[in-house]
Amino acid sequence: MSINHFPSVVIVNHPLAQHNLAVIRDKAACGDVFKCAFDRLASVLLIEATKDLPLQLTKIETPLMKAAVPMLDLDYTVLFVPILRAGLGFSESALKLVPNAKVCHIGMYRDEKTFKPVWYYDKSPAQFKNPDKMKVFILDPMLATGGSALAAVELMLKKGIQEKNIVFVSVLSAPEGLQKLTVAYPSIKIVTTAVDDKLNEHAYIMPGLGDAGDRLFNTDK
Ligand code: PRP
Ligand code: URA
Repeated sequence: MSINHFPSVVIVNHPLAQHNLAVIRDKAACGDVFKCAFDRLASVLLIEATKDLPLQLTKIETPLMKAAVPMLDLDYTVLFVPILRAGLGFSESALKLVPNAKVCHIGMYRDEKTFKPVWYYDKSPAQFKNPDKMKVFILDPMLATGGSALAAVELMLKKGIQEKNIVFVSVLSAPEGLQKLTVAYPSIKIVTTAVDDKLNEHAYIMPGLGDAGDRLFNTDK
């Protein structure tokens, strides 16, 4: 699948991203091995995802003199939105990376027969205050059919966030999900490590890495 089809998609080719993706794809990687590689990969993806955060010149005093230097613009709120469960895998890295970032948890699971997302949790406010000054990062390792991603985006838009202020961060993407998300929301930047071949008959990404939530939380049978 040519990436030119998806101009809003950034594939993170950093060697540490590609290496750690290979580690977590391996079915033998479990427990701490999976978690450690996932954390490393999450940090690299999040650095790419946050590279357009606004800066402002700020006055500081070095040991030698006063200076005006670029720092994060504190007028903007950085909000991370992990989709439970598997999106939780990003939370620790996200909070370590961005000072004063907020986290808003939302939860949905994919129905096994219809593959449609089923909501079970929404910790976001009815409407965000000052949404024009927010940068929102939706976090979910797997963009498969795109149903869960679309549901999360629609929730954010309903609560006042502008499309251009949303970034979707995934570890792995299927062409089907990318197509759906980019056609519906062309201004949303999508940051991912790889676009795999296709979905199988159970809507799993192939070759993929299996069930991301199960592997992160050791719940595979
Ligand atoms: C997985 C994954 C995404 C969703 C992707 O969640 O973490 O949220 O499937 O599939 P989609 O693009 O077809 O919507 P799952 O339903 O397995 O829940 P879990 O995170 O609790 O394991
Ligand atoms: N959810 C996962 O966890 N893995 C897939 O391959 C597809 C959806």
